Amino acid sequence: MSLFSAQNLTKSFGGVAAVRGVSLSVDAGEMVALIGPNGAGKSSCFAMLGGQIAPDRGAIGLDGQPLSGSPLDFARAGVARSFQIAKIFASMSVRENVQTALLAAHRRLWRFWRAADTQAMAEADTLLARVGLSTLAEQDAATLAYGDTKRLELAIALAARPRVLLLDEPTAGMARPERRAAMQLIASLAADGIAVLFTEHDMDAVFGFASRILVMDRGRLVAEGSPAEIAADPVVQAVYLGTPDGSQPRAAGLSAGA
Ligand SMILES: Nc1ncnc2c1ncn2[C@@H]1O[C@H](COP(=O)(O)OP(=O)(O)OP(=O)(O)O)[C@@H](O)[C@H]1O
Ligand SMILES: [Mg+2]
Repeated sequence: MSLFSAQNLTKSFGGVAAVRGVSLSVDAGEMVALIGPNGAGKSSCFAMLGGQIAPDRGAIGLDGQPLSGSPLDFARAGVARSFQIAKIFASMSVRENVQTALLAAHRRLWRFWRAADTQAMAEADTLLARVGLSTLAEQDAATLAYGDTKRLELAIALAARPRVLLLDEPTAGMARPERRAAMQLIASLAADGIAVLFTEHDMDAVFGFASRILVMDRGRLVAEGSPAEIAADPVVQAVYLGTPDGSQPRAAGLSAGA
């Protein structure tokens, strides 16, 4: 039995069938990539897997138990996520963002704020060190570079000590060396036993780090396999490079890694 799984997830927005019957599973320690062209339905899947939107059909399970409800229910069960557009408190410092997440995760009472604050500060600094943000702890979160914002979002997600981590484009907006460091960090989280599911357009990140790759196209899962299997899969090549009959490509090449 997989730690985290989804069966037949289906979601339409008005007339748009964004996700059509997607089933997937991720085990503890795995680092699974969900890839596909723009509009394939990756973020919509993540929104269902993180509890932000309810599926029209289908089910999500954690440890064999059905999981539904609000994002808070998902977080309490151990599912944390980051967003394609990072969500942080812009009016707080970097450290305060993580402290706030820690306090929320520990569900401490506000009247114990001061004591909790001291403890959360030490824990926040540990998390900031892990994501490489120690030197920016005092800075206003609003002034962070985009890559640093993604790192902060990861620290916020980790504050809940998740068993499952859903990362929507974790290296978007980062320069190449920075991107590699971010993926290495995420790989270290998987090595610690977290089940990681991530989306990425950067194929170096996908093929360099994923233990397994799922490919979506127009709402459906069209392929699943090891990086070597996916790179050689004609269906995937058709999705990324154009259709077998030689008509126009619909997405950038698989080896783009731009
Ligand atoms: N809240 C929404 N309301 C209406 N349509 C939506 C909504 N969210 C997504 N869609 C539509 O659903 C489809 C899938 O979008 P989604 O954002 O899940 O794709 P994606 O694979 O994450 O794409 P990208 O790589 O560009 O991030 C698209 O046609 C999109 O326009
Ligand atoms: Mg998306």
